[in-house]
Amino acid sequence: MGAEENRYAFNSNTFDMDGVEIPFKDGQTIMDAALAAGIYIPHLCHHPGLTPHGSCKLCMVDIGNKCMSSCTTPAVAGQQVSNNTPVLNEARKTITQLLFIEGNHLCPSCEKTGNCTLQAMAYFLGMLDGHFPQFFQRREVDASHLTVMLDRDRCILCELCVRASREVDGKNVFAIAGRGVTAHLVVNSPSGKLADSDLETSDMAAHICPVGAILIKEHGYEIPIGRRTFDLHQVGEIGLEKVIQAKARHTNE
Ligand code: SF4
Ligand code: FES
Repeated sequence: MGAEENRYAFNSNTFDMDGVEIPFKDGQTIMDAALAAGIYIPHLCHHPGLTPHGSCKLCMVDIGNKCMSSCTTPAVAGQQVSNNTPVLNEARKTITQLLFIEGNHLCPSCEKTGNCTLQAMAYFLGMLDGHFPQFFQRREVDASHLTVMLDRDRCILCELCVRASREVDGKNVFAIAGRGVTAHLVVNSPSGKLADSDLETSDMAAHICPVGAILIKEHGYEIPIGRRTFDLHQVGEIGLEKVIQAKARHTNE
């Protein structure tokens, strides 16, 4: 039995999600149990192995008429959970629209188009426009680092880079500063610039961004349209995180 399997004591508990019986182990969240059972719950800020964050709210499920984030809610035996319903998917689409209008997600000019989980989520949920008025952010771009650049106007504040840097890379390069609509990504270096941080191209934090906010320099537009991740894969495919990570690292070789 591997280390990952040993993290939870096995029991025969199950809960019901959309009429399917899902087994779970003690301490598992609804999200982790669903993914282990091969069932997709839409998510943006969740990544297997990183501490759950609960910020994007795409993973909301209905438990007894209450909306709960499945990535932070522990599974309970006998629970009735709804996930893939028109009401929840409509709410998820609205949240995705809000993310699009909050930042400058001008996909036709973004290197991440076709490899972007936010964009793929919009397609998945049938989003046709932003619906709400655009914020037109003007946050600072940081191109100071030799091999990595940061465009804060595309950041969705998922903190995947923050958690990857702290929990996997052991560096604590990124953080979120500010409150409410002024919240933004900052770099923990004396100057606040990426160039003065410990970030390296090989770090998980340099590759985990689900949108086009953190990009590896000099590798833009290498993958032709038609061969990008979401040209070949549905965002709802289980285990896609590994494909995305592998691809991100490969393009840097
Ligand atoms: S830079 Fe990317 S990974 Fe980091 S918080 Fe923003 S969207 Fe998330
Ligand atoms: S994946 Fe659960 S809140 Fe983002």
